[in-house]
Amino acid sequence: MKWLSHRNAQPLVYVAMIASIGLQIAWLVQLFDAQKLQVKRDLDQAVANAARMSEYLSVAPGHENNANFKSFFLSPQWLQLKQAYTQMRHMGIMSRFESSFRNDSTQIKIALRIANNSSAPKKARKISILDDGETMESVIKEDRRDLIRMDSLVKLECERQKINEDSFYILYDYMTGKPGSRENWIRSKNADYKSEHFGYNLNFFIHSYQLVVPSLTKTLFYRMRYYLGSSFAMILLTGLAFWFLFKVMRSERFYTNARLAFTGNMTHELKTPVAVIEAALDSITRYELANDPIRMDHYLKISKNEIHRLNQIIDKVLNLEQLDNGNINLRMELYDIQQGLESVVLSMRLRENSGLVKIDYQPSEDPCFVNGDPVHLTNVFYNLLDNAIKYSGSKPVIKVSCKCTTSHVLIMFQDNGPGIENIYRTRIFERFFRIPENPDIHNVKGTGLGLHYVKEIINRHGGKIEVSGILGQGTLFTIYLPAYDEI
Ligand SMILES: Nc1ncnc2c1ncn2[C@@H]1O[C@H](COP(=O)(O)OP(=O)(O)OP(=O)(O)O)[C@@H](O)[C@H]1O
Ligand SMILES: [Mg+2]
Repeated sequence: MKWLSHRNAQPLVYVAMIASIGLQIAWLVQLFDAQKLQVKRDLDQAVANAARMSEYLSVAPGHENNANFKSFFLSPQWLQLKQAYTQMRHMGIMSRFESSFRNDSTQIKIALRIANNSSAPKKARKISILDDGETMESVIKEDRRDLIRMDSLVKLECERQKINEDSFYILYDYMTGKPGSRENWIRSKNADYKSEHFGYNLNFFIHSYQLVVPSLTKTLFYRMRYYLGSSFAMILLTGLAFWFLFKVMRSERFYTNARLAFTGNMTHELKTPVAVIEAALDSITRYELANDPIRMDHYLKISKNEIHRLNQIIDKVLNLEQLDNGNINLRMELYDIQQGLESVVLSMRLRENSGLVKIDYQPSEDPCFVNGDPVHLTNVFYNLLDNAIKYSGSKPVIKVSCKCTTSHVLIMFQDNGPGIENIYRTRIFERFFRIPENPDIHNVKGTGLGLHYVKEIINRHGGKIEVSGILGQGTLFTIYLPAYDEI
């Protein structure tokens, strides 16, 4: 798929990520709306149940558990009849309800009183809300008691439905429909839920009851907790998957670039010694240097050095290949770190004999031994010293030191080069990685394999390597190796 290049893949991944997160959110919003509707329905049911129970209790005081009574007054047929009964009150028809309990039975009387002068104005037709024998005070007292009962029944029903929100009620005048508390009525305007108006006593009607729940958020979050949890986990997982994808894409692009750079560097690294050797041998034959032993010796030395360099490069690549394939076998033995460092420093001093490179070696006073592979550890020191010289500009001053603690041996390589920015301090250990566009080290050749090899070898020895130093003032590489354990 040619079109699926890195350049196209990245926006595609972004779009896919945004779309999948967007879909999750849209789904949640839909679910939220549906749940809100369901909670409102449950509240409708709760208030209706409470009102029905409250009315039932108002006709059966002291006989609440009478089974016959219950099957009649809580039946759907009675509910229908009761609605008509209530409706009549609205229309100005006086209805009267009476229940009397005897030892063996209960008598219930329902009477209607309809005004005669139906042509009279509506106001004149109004009949007193008081039934016979009732006074306003007694009715108001009863109304208060029943209101408290109604409210606690509503709360119980809400609890049963697991709706535990702050709520309040508004009382409306049964005849006029006007709210009792203007303040509550205003508060109810922006409420999430307002119930229908319900009566709560069958014997009289002074007020109707309305439940108001200002906010349903707590209940909605409670009911949606599993959906929210799984959505959150899905978003997190999707985010993680995309992040991982990006990382893979980035490192793939990095490796593609690095491999190209590596090929370029290797071509240079391999071609230069070959060209130098070719030129040296060519000169020997062309100018018949067999007759000039001093010059011939000089050319042969150059050739030998170049062959040595070539050999080192080949070793580096082969070592790394073996290391990455897990085929390398370390030959562990008692290894004297100080001796190893000394020999590497010495050979480096010989290599850099121009007088421009200063290598200061500060050995430890105590002997420092580790259980290690002499060949690979020497390579490690060589690589770090080589880097310190390569990247420290025209006058490198390098300090190599060693310290021993009871558990560890610390080996430090300090240079006076440009230092390494924080963002590159882990990446320099990646295969092929070379710090890009650093003007000071721009023309320094290398394969980008040295530090990767160093880290792998140190890890295999159970140690670690750290980079520190101040930018512009130099770099410090510190190796920690477990000290030799005699047991
Ligand atoms: N002492 C140092 N000071 C500044 N930068 C350094 C130092 N050592 C390493 N680096 C940076 O880290 C990069 C990786 O180093 P590494 O030794 O892995 O590769 P190299 O030196 O480029 O190639 P090789 O060692 O394989 O010939 C270098 O290219 C360089 O940019
Ligand atoms: Mg290097």
